[in-house]
Amino acid sequence: MRFVVANWKMNFLSGQARDFCEAFLAGYSPSPSVTAAVAPPFHLIRPVADSLRSRQVRVFGQNGHAEPNGAYTGEISMAQLQDVGCSGVILGHSERRQLFGETDDALVAKVKAARDWNLLPLLCVGETLEERQQGRTLEVLDRQLSILARTGPTPLWVAYEPVWAIGTGLRAEVGQIREAHAFIKSRIVTLMSLNFGPVPILYGGSITPENFPELLDIPEVAGGLVGGASLDPAKFATLVKQAG
Ligand code: G3H
Repeated sequence: MRFVVANWKMNFLSGQARDFCEAFLAGYSPSPSVTAAVAPPFHLIRPVADSLRSRQVRVFGQNGHAEPNGAYTGEISMAQLQDVGCSGVILGHSERRQLFGETDDALVAKVKAARDWNLLPLLCVGETLEERQQGRTLEVLDRQLSILARTGPTPLWVAYEPVWAIGTGLRAEVGQIREAHAFIKSRIVTLMSLNFGPVPILYGGSITPENFPELLDIPEVAGGLVGGASLDPAKFATLVKQAG
C-alpha cells in the first residue's frame, strides 16, 4: 500500500475547492494499492469530505488541539475534526513548529487526543538546513520521534520532511532520504509496539509528478506528503496514479 496526502495549507476559497474536487475526480480512479487523502483548511473540510468520500479519498485536518473543547480561541479540536468528516490529522508540520511555536511536548498530547478521537496522526519530522549542515539530522529526528515513547502505542503515519526542501524546489537526494527513513523506521520499532501494523513513512518536500516516480522507487518511501503540487488537480491525480 502506498499513501499520497495533499496538504493544501492556507489555500483555496470555497469555489476553488469545488473546482478542484470536480477536476480531480474526473482524472482519478481509486486503486486498492493507494490511499489518497486531502488536508484542506478548516472551512473546507466538510464540503471536500462530502465531495471525495464516495471515491474513498480520505480527509485530514492540518492541525488539531489536544482538548476536546474549551476556551481556546482560534483552535479546532480533534473531536471537531472528526465531526466534520476527518479520519486523520497532520501533526507537527514544520510550519506549525516554526511559525506557531508547536513543541514536542504539545505534540505528545495531540497524538494522544487524535488516537482518542479515532483520527490517524500523520506526524511530520525533519531537520532545518542549518541542522543538516551541522551534521545533526539524525539527532533532530531522534528528538522529534522520542515523543512516541510518551504517547503509547498508536496507529500512525510519519512524514519525513526536510525543512529546507519544503516549497523550495530543492528535493532531498535519494541517499539522504534513505538514511533518514531507515533511521526513522528503526526508532519507531524501538519506541512503539507495532501492534497496529507497520508505520508508513512518507517523504515530503518539493514533490512533483516529474520527481515522484524516482522517490517511489526508494524502498523505504511509502508515499508522499505534497504541498504546492497538490493544489493542481491534474498534478495531484497524476501523483496518486503514479503511486498505484
Ligand atoms: O506538507 C507538505 C510539505 O510541506 C511539502 O510542501 O510540496 O510545497 O514542498 P511542498
